Amino acid sequence: MTSIYAQRRAALAAQLGTGGVAIIPTAPERIRNRDADFPFRHDSYFFYLTGFSEPNAWLLLEANGRSTLFCQPKDLEREIWDGIRLGPQAAPAALGVSQAFSVSELDAHIPKLLENQTSVWYPFVTHDHLSSQVDGWLNKVRARVRMGVSCPSVQQDVCVLLDEMRLVKDAHEQDTMRSAARISAAAHVRAMQLSARMLRDGQDVREYHLEAELLHEFRRHGSQFPAYTSIVAAGANACVLHYRADTAPVRNGDLVLIDAGCELDGYASDITRTFPANGKFSGPQRALYDIVLAAQYASANATRAGARFNDPHEAAVKVLAQGLLDVGLLTHDKHGSLQDVLEKKAYFPFYMHRTSHWLGMDVHDCGSYVEPGEAITEPPKADPITGAVVQPRPSRVLHPGMVLTLEPGLYVRPGEGVPEQFWHIGIRIEDDAIVTANGCELISRDVPVDAGEIEALMRG
Ligand code: GLY
Ligand code: MN
Ligand code: MN
Repeated sequence: MTSIYAQRRAALAAQLGTGGVAIIPTAPERIRNRDADFPFRHDSYFFYLTGFSEPNAWLLLEANGRSTLFCQPKDLEREIWDGIRLGPQAAPAALGVSQAFSVSELDAHIPKLLENQTSVWYPFVTHDHLSSQVDGWLNKVRARVRMGVSCPSVQQDVCVLLDEMRLVKDAHEQDTMRSAARISAAAHVRAMQLSARMLRDGQDVREYHLEAELLHEFRRHGSQFPAYTSIVAAGANACVLHYRADTAPVRNGDLVLIDAGCELDGYASDITRTFPANGKFSGPQRALYDIVLAAQYASANATRAGARFNDPHEAAVKVLAQGLLDVGLLTHDKHGSLQDVLEKKAYFPFYMHRTSHWLGMDVHDCGSYVEPGEAITEPPKADPITGAVVQPRPSRVLHPGMVLTLEPGLYVRPGEGVPEQFWHIGIRIEDDAIVTANGCELISRDVPVDAGEIEALMRG
């Protein structure tokens, strides 16, 4: 049976054009300080095509389907320190590549593999200095043109092809993402329960206590890393969008916003829940929570094959704007009708981010948000907040197997005319959705989202 990685390599090779060669390195290792490295995490494009997670590896793929892997050579001394290496001899059988060499032979082999080819494809933006490395290899080929060798004359960004491939997740990817989301949901459940239990017991709860619970649950189910730095924000910290888990106390009466997800076998999950630290929402907290929840349901209802990427955002914003008018954070006197609020983006001080992003190997996954090849029909218009003139472009049409987040929120900072009962409340609800023919599958709902269900869970 051909592995999914071999199938992906074949699909990429078929798009390289006659004489096309793709060169794709994995991620570099990064020093944290002195002898300590940051944990190594493969490059997503490289892993997508190989399933290989050792550092110092490169894939070279030719349009005819031949694949060459460069990887770390077997080296007993290094393996005693750093762990077992696959090595070039075992790589063809293990990974299904046509041939493999030591990465130390990269500069010797690549110019030869580029001889008499037409174009070279590589990632233009993800690797520092890669284009000068490619130029160096091409110069070596050019030095041999007098011997009758021809040199590729075109350089192209291989990510343009890979981004499109990665945008629609195959069955294996969807299964892995379901597992990642299940683990993350269980971690959120644990954090909610710990918060209520510690407060009931009169303990000094800190944001890092809840973060520790998340990390423990991720790791004990085999997740290799958090997919991004966990946000555990108590009270007013929830209004800082990129807050991280810190030392702040989690107090009775606070809301806690946790945005955290694990990475499992190279795939991210991304879940946000907002819950009362002690397990019971106050009136104003509940009022805003239910608006955000209704907005999230509206965004989920707008997510299906054939809809546009922007549709869930627009559906969510409409509900949020109406909710802001209903509770008096915006007023008809000052802000006009719902339509006015939407057109002038009057909701922006309370909802300043988008509702969705693609999710996959990367938490903000690759893939164009604009429908390729579709003509622009709308005229440029000025953004009501920044004044910048922007050209609206046709939003991406959703297809089964695309995966996106649905993450509306409301963030209320103190301000003139802002009812005090809502000050410092920050709420976001985020789930992961696989687009299906008739709707979407919310794969992260093993942690409750309904306010009553959250309270019940935290009483337990
Ligand atoms: N956790 C990052 C995001 O929600 O986009
Ligand atoms: Mn997200
Ligand atoms: Mn998130």
